[in-house]
Amino acid sequence: MEREPEKLDLLDISPGLEEFREDLLEGLRQPQKQVSSKYLYDQRGSVLFDRICEVDEYYPTRTESQIMRDNADQMADAIGPESMIVEYGSGSSIKTHILLDCLDQPRAYVPIDICRDHLMQSSARIADAYPDLEVLSLCADFTAKLELPEPQSAVGRRVVFFPGSTIGNLTQETAEVCLTNMRENCGDDGGVLIGVDLEKDTDILRAAYNDAAGVTAAFNLNLLERINRELDADFDLDVFDHQAVFNAERTRMEMHLRSLANQTVRVGDETVSFAKGETIHTENSHKYSLDRFRAMAANASLSVKKVWTDEKKLFSVQYLRAS
Ligand code: AVJ
Repeated sequence: MEREPEKLDLLDISPGLEEFREDLLEGLRQPQKQVSSKYLYDQRGSVLFDRICEVDEYYPTRTESQIMRDNADQMADAIGPESMIVEYGSGSSIKTHILLDCLDQPRAYVPIDICRDHLMQSSARIADAYPDLEVLSLCADFTAKLELPEPQSAVGRRVVFFPGSTIGNLTQETAEVCLTNMRENCGDDGGVLIGVDLEKDTDILRAAYNDAAGVTAAFNLNLLERINRELDADFDLDVFDHQAVFNAERTRMEMHLRSLANQTVRVGDETVSFAKGETIHTENSHKYSLDRFRAMAANASLSVKKVWTDEKKLFSVQYLRAS
């Protein structure tokens, strides 16, 4: 079937190079050096993340997909007919197919991702697979307040689909702002279908972020390569290593890049020094209890209507409605 060209639209408002440079240098001047995890997802980072999803130790993707397959009918019932699905951090949109396949006449799909190439590839695939669906892609940082594109066709409920427990990458404060924005974007009748990773045995967590094949390490170190390439820096990848630790006080996994020596690194025309053992904090992955997540949603005027989990209660998919 021929697709009309306007059925596949892409709007790019993702951070540019100058913003990346400023964010990075500001983060490297903090006492605990840090970089926002959104910068892990350049083209190669997005491909490496997809490979993480395939390693044995990384349970979230597999578990979430199974929860979705097992409960897709109930999810479709909760969302209702003729919906508009807005996906935050859509990446390769693999789980999107599970959802779209079971929905009753979905009208519009708005994938939002920070990686433009990944977004274009996956939205083209979706547009091909669902010729009646209006696909309106947005290349953006979804934690910012977004103006959603308006679909041409009339739509029923607007539902944000936010899988992968990417909400866990945000601090509680930012997560609440992000949930509040979703609630506003979807209106009083709106809904949120969200994947939330749960608290569990820390050995399982540590293994998931330190896979034996070293894919997570490559994903983390790729950030330095990206900085070297895009911001004319000279990080030596042999003098940093991947570190993933559980922070019990904050119930989260943290990824760091650890300097293996005292060294000075150049970023453009600035320099940054590292002591041996000092780290750059590159990602948080918060793990929630059902109660703590419910309280956080409530602070964003969202109420949890339904929780689906796997047998071992490793992961949850939750449906929230404006309240
Ligand atoms: C998809 C962003 C939620 O935090 O578990 C995987 C990213 N980082 N391994 C996560 C990730 C290291 C993942 N998120």
